[in-house]
Amino acid sequence: MQVAIIGTGYVGLPTGVGLAELGHNVACIDQDKTKIEKLQAGEVTLYEDGLAELLSKNHKSGHIRFTSSMQDGLANADIVLIAVGTPPHPVTHEADLKYLYAAATELAPYISRYTVIATKSTVPIGTGDNIEALIRKNNPRANFDVISLPEFLREGFAVHDFFHPDRIVVGTNSTQARELIEKLYAPLLERNPQTKMLFVNRRSSETIKYASNSFLAIKLHFINEMADFCEKTGANIYEVAEGMGLDKRIGPKFLNPGPGFGGSCFPKDTLAITFMANQYDVNLSLIQATIDGNRNRINNMAKRILDILPNDESEPIIGVLGLAFKNGTDDCRFSPAMRIIEHVLNQNPHVKLQVFDPKAMENAKELLSSQKARVTFCENMEQTCENADVIAVLTEWKEFKQLDLAKAATTLRHLNIVDCRNIINQKAALDFGFNYLGIGLPNN
Ligand code: UGA
Repeated sequence: MQVAIIGTGYVGLPTGVGLAELGHNVACIDQDKTKIEKLQAGEVTLYEDGLAELLSKNHKSGHIRFTSSMQDGLANADIVLIAVGTPPHPVTHEADLKYLYAAATELAPYISRYTVIATKSTVPIGTGDNIEALIRKNNPRANFDVISLPEFLREGFAVHDFFHPDRIVVGTNSTQARELIEKLYAPLLERNPQTKMLFVNRRSSETIKYASNSFLAIKLHFINEMADFCEKTGANIYEVAEGMGLDKRIGPKFLNPGPGFGGSCFPKDTLAITFMANQYDVNLSLIQATIDGNRNRINNMAKRILDILPNDESEPIIGVLGLAFKNGTDDCRFSPAMRIIEHVLNQNPHVKLQVFDPKAMENAKELLSSQKARVTFCENMEQTCENADVIAVLTEWKEFKQLDLAKAATTLRHLNIVDCRNIINQKAALDFGFNYLGIGLPNN
């Protein structure tokens, strides 16, 4: 099949590469010409495990191509996937649909035969109706269906998730669209016969995306609060999570405590759904409590780090391990680590930071460009520890487990670890004489 994808970000690019690997002919369209040039040269523009290899393979075989021209990309397309960003409005937090509507307006004139326009971006309920009206207005004779095809990929695991989805949700009442989508995913369902394809109406599909992300955010906030509780009671959050997760109704996943959830999805989507609910005069109180609680948690993590700093240092130094919002990605957008850093810098004007992340240094440099005088970007974990008064672990990169505690103990100025991801071995840290503060663990 001929597939066009508009937007080559964290959703569009892995989806395009995945569909090409399934044997479709994919054209990825992006108005950012620099990005397109890089992709045309076979280089990836973002970090995702396994993406570079698959992209290079499918680029060489000709299954995937990249263009900045809508006309070129849409030529002969059976299906067009819209995967542009829907960032939150800075004040109202509602999803900003300007990129999405611009894409719909721009693609409309190039629909020359029956085409399915599928929205992959997360969009407010009812957006499918608006896209349909927009395309109709710009090309009254076009033969098309607009469907909702939400994506459930996790950043950092996007390639894996693409090939192993729990479900594929399709929002449409059109039989013609349904047949095309079944054909699109047939090679995937052949590989994963257990994957369920769920056809629902378009608004239900748009809602499923927000409801799923909100539910997961609530689950995370729950386990984080339970971790706070365990710290006071002497219970261990991992034992509690395991005991809870064995109940099939609860399940073991998404019960890992941390510094609060972040990334470009949960914070944005929880805010957007509460904005919509307010418009309909519906009280989504659980989601609201989760948003507020998560914000407080991130500030509390910053406070933990500040509180552990020695009083007698005029310029205390915090060594930060991890900047990305989670492991496996270079994405720092709405990263708890970045927010904790921001908070720490605002709260204590004397504090200096030494930071390191295995993948996210470039993105973090950009976000922290105004703080150059106070933030040193280090080459490795060891450099991050030099003369620091505390090591703060903010992202759960596996490599941080390898931190040489014996060596760190000789280069740090004070032996403090605030481990917001429980990555460092608590017992080993205590044995080396560290003051260790983890999440939800006894003896904190
Ligand atoms: C999330 C959803 O998991 C995807 O299904 C969805 O497609 C995506 O949003 C989206 O809407 O595009 P993502 O934001 O990439 O994916 O990352 P997650 O792995 O879900 O993690 C989100 C946050 O929760 C991170 O800050 C992570 O560190 C935190 N988290 C996750 C925990 O603290 N504990 C956990 O057990 C799991």
